[in-house]
Amino acid sequence: MNVRVYKDDKAIGSAAAALFAACVTEKPNCVFGLATGSSPIPTYRKMAELYRDGAVDYAGVTTYNLDEYVGLDHDHDQSYYYFMQENLFRHINVKEENIHVLSGIAPDPEKECRDYEKAIETAGGIDLQILGIGRNGHIAFNEPADAFAPATHVVELTESTIDANKRFFTSVDDVPRRALTTGIGTIMKARAIVLIATGADKAEAVRAMVKGPVTPRCPASILQFHPNTTIMVDEAAASLL
Ligand code: GLP
Repeated sequence: MNVRVYKDDKAIGSAAAALFAACVTEKPNCVFGLATGSSPIPTYRKMAELYRDGAVDYAGVTTYNLDEYVGLDHDHDQSYYYFMQENLFRHINVKEENIHVLSGIAPDPEKECRDYEKAIETAGGIDLQILGIGRNGHIAFNEPADAFAPATHVVELTESTIDANKRFFTSVDDVPRRALTTGIGTIMKARAIVLIATGADKAEAVRAMVKGPVTPRCPASILQFHPNTTIMVDEAAASLL
């Protein structure tokens, strides 16, 4: 685990976008693993800027997102598909047919998960995965549990995650209780990972991830075993390291 401390989220965004740019330059048909939440937004802004400036061409890139809420279709303004369109996809030249986000309204969610896991494998696996981290140490929607989930699956969200995400909904009752998420195993297969955390409310999760024992009680701690993970944090998120 390579931990780097930056002065603010803008500096982190530039550094993470540079990793994506390097990935495409080296392999124009590379596969990105993408995340939602506020943490990756400065990265997505910078990725769009690099496209506008003609510095990076995403035409050959394939993307797989980490997760999606059960019950929200792609047009719902709180669906993760919608988030990705608004914050990244419509600002760059990634092809619509190369974009993959789990469907929250699939009639058979378990099958949707199995098909998604297979599709990532068929695409050759993820070259660069971006992650945020929840206050309870979750990555994607892999909540603290008794075991690490090997593959894409349906999950019940914890109160902590529902509480953290309620700011995006009219009321806490509108926050979906379940989600589809790639597993810890899916994430660990990515060839390179960059995890972003900013602000004091992430400091304890960052400490547990970097310094704590590797345990499914803090899902992000498994990244200690990943051979190519960069943790990008600001000083507030790094304050307990
Ligand atoms: C959600 C997402 C995670 C994300 C987390 C933290 O639960 N499923 O992928 O990492 O929120 O979000 P934020 O970056 O807004 O703190």
